[in-house]
Amino acid sequence: MKVLGLSGSLRAGSHNSKLLRAAGDLLPGEAELVEFDGLKLIPPFDEDDEHARPDSVQALFDAIADADAVLVSTPEYNHSIPGQLKNALDWLSRPLAESPLRNKPAAVVGASTGLFGAVWAQAEARKVLSAIGARVIDRELPIGMADDAFHPHGPLVDEDLSLALAGILAELHAETRSSLPAAA
Ligand code: FNR
Repeated sequence: MKVLGLSGSLRAGSHNSKLLRAAGDLLPGEAELVEFDGLKLIPPFDEDDEHARPDSVQALFDAIADADAVLVSTPEYNHSIPGQLKNALDWLSRPLAESPLRNKPAAVVGASTGLFGAVWAQAEARKVLSAIGARVIDRELPIGMADDAFHPHGPLVDEDLSLALAGILAELHAETRSSLPAAA
C-alpha cells in the first residue's frame, strides 16, 4: 500500500510534516508513505483554468491517483484549515467525476502549538474530503503543544498519542485493503 502524505503547512520546520514522518514509521506491513512536496507551487484555483491544469496541479492529481490512500496532516489557522490546503482540495475536486480523491481512502491528523491540537481544522478537512467523495476515516488525532510533541529523532513523545496514530493508520490500511483486488 502506498500512502500519499499531504502536509497542510508550507514551512520548513512544520510540525505537521513531522507528524507525517512519524506516521510513515508506524505504517503496518509493506505500506510506505510518500510525502507530496509541491503544495507551495499550486496557484490559486480559477474556474477558467480548470480544464487546462497547471503542471503543479497535475502533479498533485497524479500523486494521489498513484497512491492507494491519502493521509492529510493539517495545521489549524484561525480554527480552520490553511488556505493553501483548501485551495489544493478545490483544484482536486474539479471536475468531481474525475477527482482522484473520489472513493480514495483518506485519514486526517493534525498538530498545532495550541492546546487543542488542530481539532477544528481536522474536522474541516474531513468535511471537505468527504464532500469530494473520499472515504474518510472518522477519527482525529489532536497533537497539541506541538513544539514539545516530537522527539528530535522523529516519533511522538506521548506513547498514547503514538498508539492512537498507529490505530488510525491501521484503519486506513484496512479501508484500503477492502477496496484492492488483491492484498497489498
Ligand atoms: C495559527 N496557529 C493556531 N493554532 C491553533 O491551535 N488554533 C488556531 O486557530 C491557530 N491559528 C493560527 C493562525 C495562523 C495564521 C498561524 C500562522 C498560526 C498556530 C499554529 O498551530 C502553529 O503555527 C503550528 O505550528 C502550525 O503548523 P506547522 O506549520 O508547524 O505544521
